[in-house]
Amino acid sequence: IEAAVADGPLKGRRVVVTSGPTQEPIDPVRYIANRSSGAQGTAIAAALAGLGAEVVFVTGPADVAPPGGVTVVPVESAREMLAAVEAALPADAAVFAAAVADWRVAEQSGAKIKKQPGGAPPALQFVENPDILAAIARRSAGRPALVVGFAAETDDVIAHATAKRARKGCDWIVANDVSPATGIMGGAENEVTLITADGAETWPRMGKPEVARRLAARIAEALG
Ligand code: CTP
Ligand code: CA
Repeated sequence: IEAAVADGPLKGRRVVVTSGPTQEPIDPVRYIANRSSGAQGTAIAAALAGLGAEVVFVTGPADVAPPGGVTVVPVESAREMLAAVEAALPADAAVFAAAVADWRVAEQSGAKIKKQPGGAPPALQFVENPDILAAIARRSAGRPALVVGFAAETDDVIAHATAKRARKGCDWIVANDVSPATGIMGGAENEVTLITADGAETWPRMGKPEVARRLAARIAEALG
């Protein structure tokens, strides 16, 4: 869990990265989750560490192993992820690559929910999870200088992502099209558009590690 410090343009900089899915418990044996593998967030953390940053990697239960050279903070639920991010601040930059579950079950059952013979299925009630990116981007005190969000969309990618950037108050949004036909969700490659105050810039399709290195280089440039 501890942390070699590489030399590079991000030496002395601290960056928080969220990654992976979250799991939202229903009862002691069941949960709600999503298909995020954690591959892109993991690659970003590795690339930032490779440029010398001190990286706090807050990760839900992902398929891929966390990178070396970062401080790993494993979490399960969205609320745990928010608490871990807050505990990791202050930071110079924060990158929110996690696929956070939008909703959780309103009342987690302490005991396994049993089938009722002849009865109806349980009617689960949901409540919205905290928006971790928006909470950090809108902080009045202790906001990282650079806050980067992601927007996985299936249509009107740039329009949705541009609106999302404004709604959440972050500096950059990395947008991508995750329609099944693109093969990006769970695949090795990504094709992203970086949305900043200056507009939208679409990068060619490339491997997720290459996207990560390019993004890390941009972050280093922005932090100066
Ligand atoms: N995010 C977050 N906390 C949440 C939901 C999302 O931190 N509860 C972050 C994600 O890590 C990502 C960005 O917000 O960086 C956008 O996530 P996305 O799911 O695309 O946006 P939502 O606001 O949840 O909108 P929707 O899912 O309806 O498109
Ligand atoms: Ca969402």
